[in-house]
Amino acid sequence: MKKILVTGCLGQIGSELVPHLRKIYGADNIVGTDIRKVEGSKVIEGGPFEILDVLDAKKMGEIAKKYKCDTIVHMAALLSAVAEAKPALAWELNMGGLFNALEVARENKCSFFTPSSIGAFGSTTPKAKTPQDTIQRPETMYGVTKVSGELLCDYYHKKFGVDTRGVRFPGLISYVAPPGGGTTDYAVDIYYKALQEGKYNSYIAEGTYMDMMYMPDALNAVVKLMESNPEKLIHRNAFNITAMSFEPSQIAAEIKKHISSFEMTYEVDPVRQGIANTWPDSIDDTCAREEWGFENKYNLENMTTDILDKLRKKLDIK
Ligand code: SER
Repeated sequence: MKKILVTGCLGQIGSELVPHLRKIYGADNIVGTDIRKVEGSKVIEGGPFEILDVLDAKKMGEIAKKYKCDTIVHMAALLSAVAEAKPALAWELNMGGLFNALEVARENKCSFFTPSSIGAFGSTTPKAKTPQDTIQRPETMYGVTKVSGELLCDYYHKKFGVDTRGVRFPGLISYVAPPGGGTTDYAVDIYYKALQEGKYNSYIAEGTYMDMMYMPDALNAVVKLMESNPEKLIHRNAFNITAMSFEPSQIAAEIKKHISSFEMTYEVDPVRQGIANTWPDSIDDTCAREEWGFENKYNLENMTTDILDKLRKKLDIK
């Protein structure tokens, strides 16, 4: 990876991945693109930026050529809860954008990364220690696009030799960009509310386990996978990776260690709970650890300490 085109660079992952990549590869070598412009955004001001609707294949190709990109990191997509509310748009954007990005990668001989998700599994998938290779019959539009995306990336690798690689991200937790309409977002919101209001009303029910990861581990995973030796990759699209699995009362208990008066209540949202019920309790990421050395630094305990510390500063709370 020398010159990288990133789509959806103002999204939940992109807004942290772009600065991370710029630190490693040099600011001028990371071309951020997004459908919108946000005034004063560090991502936009920190290096090359172009407005791009990923459904505009021609413009995407022009940007890849203009900057002589050798890698595409395709992040533009709708998350699970929004996709469930707007399934037609989710199919159009998640699949149409991915197809265009793969075509641009094929034409310009670029390496390719795009994230899949724990949403690529469904209720017929084994729920505990979900294996790398298993049943994938998701029941959400988000999941349908993620499985289709995994297959399409494998197809471009086998048919055209495009170096496609991906991971199935668990819920990503960060204090930088707010997530937009995911099922796992409660595990981000809870930290803000804990500091701002001392309490949190969870839309996910007690006892609902989902895999999660702190953003720094997710960013390192993208770079490590893309820099790994292709000869070692038995799998490609996409690797299970996880850092922790917890349910709402466990994250609440961890927060209570820092804010003893913190209180948790529940008001379950049937849509997001319904989605969560079809996802694994915990996934097995042995293949990622063995094939390219995936590792995580953060668990629930050290992530909670770090995020509360960073959020206190960000929100200016003593
Ligand atoms: N965090 C995502 C979501 O909840 C899962 O990939 O939609």
